Amino acid sequence: MQAVILAGGLGTRLRPITYSRPKALVPLLNRPMILHALDALPAVVDEVIIAASYMVDALERFFSGRRESRRITFVEEEEPLGTGGALRNLEGTLRGRFLALNVDVISSVELEGLVATHKAKGGIGTLALWEVAQPEAYGIVDIDEDGRVQRFLEKPAADEVFSHWINAGAYVFEEALLDRIPEGRPVSLEREIFPVVLSEGVYGLPFQGYWSDAGTLGQYLDATRILLDRQTGSEEAAEIPSEVIPPVAIDPSAHVTGGSVGPYVAIGADSRVTEAHLSRSVLLERAVVEEGAAVVDSLIGAGATIERDALVRECIVGDGASVGIGSQRVAEQVES
Ligand code: GDD
Ligand code: MG
Repeated sequence: MQAVILAGGLGTRLRPITYSRPKALVPLLNRPMILHALDALPAVVDEVIIAASYMVDALERFFSGRRESRRITFVEEEEPLGTGGALRNLEGTLRGRFLALNVDVISSVELEGLVATHKAKGGIGTLALWEVAQPEAYGIVDIDEDGRVQRFLEKPAADEVFSHWINAGAYVFEEALLDRIPEGRPVSLEREIFPVVLSEGVYGLPFQGYWSDAGTLGQYLDATRILLDRQTGSEEAAEIPSEVIPPVAIDPSAHVTGGSVGPYVAIGADSRVTEAHLSRSVLLERAVVEEGAAVVDSLIGAGATIERDALVRECIVGDGASVGIGSQRVAEQVES
């Protein structure tokens, strides 16, 4: 069976980190998002098709240095075609029934079960469904007692919310879906296609466990929190002369001395944190946080520097950027 990974978004909501890498390669606990997506695929998948358009070279380079158990095929869109256009662009590549996943999601969904349900129901598509309190940032889905989708609405306004079950970004589709998607232009699967193919039978399968999108700073930190809560604890073995408030994940090559780290902090390879305070934040590789600085609810890019006594809260600091001595940055995208 083939599986498509939708990996072509520009990652605008994670800028400036996504100016220097595609969203699919932004790490979650030191593993690029796309590897979390591949981990979720069942054994029946023997070919993975990566549908991408933005920074495809970086993705190809990443996979050229790895040995994967499955065949990996890249299909590049010259211009981003949207989630529907990306699938239509795979006509001729996809054969029969296939799986499709958003790249920026971590979840406990069992895709084998999704395939089995899809076969049993016999529709044109089956969506995994997750329940959230605040569904406005997602596609909402209403199902009947047989699991058949009655309504689908992408990013509803507050007064349009008819369900708290959302599209979790994991699908099984029949090849016939491709014919329903217009060719040669950007198409949103969620806005243009789902609402009109419901009459052909689209089913939803709720699941439990964990789920998070990771495509905005808040969601990215939520996804990190979920993964940290699930880790076994071996990562905490490194000896660190700092106050550590678990859970944390500190790469063994990182140097962390003094100050406090945690809870919900991930520190990437070769980073250096000296007498600083970090909580609910992620430092990618080679980041530096100097004496007296505080980093809260933030994502700090590779090789970025947070200088002495600076305060960074709810920020994304780009790869290689720096925050000057004593400065305060709140809810900003810091580029240099
Ligand atoms: N190939 C390709 N081309 N992929 C794309 C394109 C494109 O033009 N645009 C977006 N994608 C990929 C993204 O990389 C991501 O993996 C996936 O499609 C979804 O795009 P997002 O931009 O992350 O969408 P979203 O998070 O706002 O909403 C989607 O995900 C929610 C769950 O996380 C929708 O599918 C919602 O219905 C859903 O609830
Ligand atoms: Mg997303």
